[in-house]
Amino acid sequence: MASIEMKNIVKKYGDGFPAVNDVSMDIADGEFMILVGPSGCGKSTLLRMIVGLEDITSGEMDIGGTRVNEKAPRDRNLSMVFQNYALYPHLSVFENIAFPLRLAKAPEDEVRKKVNEAADVLELHEHLQRKPANLSGGQRQRVAMGRAIVRDADAFLFDEPLSNLDAKLRGQMRTEIARLQRRLGITTVYVTHDQTEAMTLGDRVCVLRKGVIQQVASPRELYEQPVNLFVAGFIGSPPMNFLPATVSGSALETPFGKIELDSARAEKIKGKDLVLVGIRPEYFEDASLVDEAKKHVGSTFSARVDVTEWLGDSQFAYIPYEAPEEVAAQLKELSRELDSDQLRTQAIVSIDSTSRIREGREAEFWLDARKIHVFDPSTGDNLTRDPEAGAELTRMASEDRAEQVAQAREHGTSVTGRHHAEEK
Ligand SMILES: Nc1ncnc2c1ncn2[C@@H]1O[C@H](COP(=O)(O)OP(=O)(O)O)[C@@H](O)[C@H]1O
Ligand SMILES: [Mg+2]
Repeated sequence: MASIEMKNIVKKYGDGFPAVNDVSMDIADGEFMILVGPSGCGKSTLLRMIVGLEDITSGEMDIGGTRVNEKAPRDRNLSMVFQNYALYPHLSVFENIAFPLRLAKAPEDEVRKKVNEAADVLELHEHLQRKPANLSGGQRQRVAMGRAIVRDADAFLFDEPLSNLDAKLRGQMRTEIARLQRRLGITTVYVTHDQTEAMTLGDRVCVLRKGVIQQVASPRELYEQPVNLFVAGFIGSPPMNFLPATVSGSALETPFGKIELDSARAEKIKGKDLVLVGIRPEYFEDASLVDEAKKHVGSTFSARVDVTEWLGDSQFAYIPYEAPEEVAAQLKELSRELDSDQLRTQAIVSIDSTSRIREGREAEFWLDARKIHVFDPSTGDNLTRDPEAGAELTRMASEDRAEQVAQAREHGTSVTGRHHAEEK
């Protein structure tokens, strides 16, 4: 097990374009770190530099406190699971899982023991003699995982391991990976473009855009205190709504009426003229369902509902609004970059499933003014971010994590056949 430290890592491919640009990040021993961002943002390149499959153009990569820039992949003691699983078609499931142990010339009884343990954890026992071609996608994924966990690797590296599975299986495997990683307490770096995977798996998540780190934080901090428009728009589904607004004193004039800001926030946007107000769908409600006592902390407005989606336990309403040309263009650009078709000049609001708000009619809505963020439209920066509140959220997650890792190690990690408690 090991920590991974990156200092000013740059990767330039042949044409000189920096696919990874000045990335510095420390991954703690036992931590589950996610690299997330849209396709082409440099996630795989960064992961491949950790494993040693890609040369580092400049910067330093340390694993377990030792510089590895010049080390070959096989000398880094890392286990990688690829998107396409890379199984050997002519070998049985047993031999596929055993492969790294065979390479290391492990004795036969050790191979049997470790493969059987991995098969237990991954529920592969009845398939051990089959060939990969006869397995389902989910089973192949498990075999690839098995091959990764039989080694006493210092870290696991995953590159979009679930993207070839259907949605249901993806959900199942996600839970299994989380459980396995918690149980083993092994440092893990996991690449995905899926924000749900990022939020549910990671202790911390690193959001990348065009090779540059935007924010490294716990899922809660990313969600509640995003540093900029990009992170705010990427994390959360349906995404945060962005409304154009003009600042007048301590109030914001939005397409949905006036929002009064508390003094701390008003102070932070002083001197600004046009801004973007970010508010997540769940901070809206059907005004008729909001307690009178609570109403004053937000704003009530009336708007015409375009579409409603009733899902049983929840309900969404789509509310189009008018925006200046420049704002509409900016949202379109962000939407394109995030590969999302939902960032448009319409708000998506989540209302109680009992609400009788109807399509095509005017309705009264309420929004929680305490929950808004205000972004600078030219730089995308979140002007109202509270860095201390954010750091506290990440600190809590890191403490929980450290405790879990300590426990996992105290009980020994039987899957790899290594019993840390007994080693001492
Ligand atoms: N072997 C390569 N040669 C040249 N450019 C590459 C190579 N591999 C990746 N790139 C470029 O580097 C950028 C990052 O790619 P990649 O790390 O694969 O992104 P991601 O995994 O986030 O989708 C992209 O612009 C991609 O086109
Ligand atoms: Mg990739």
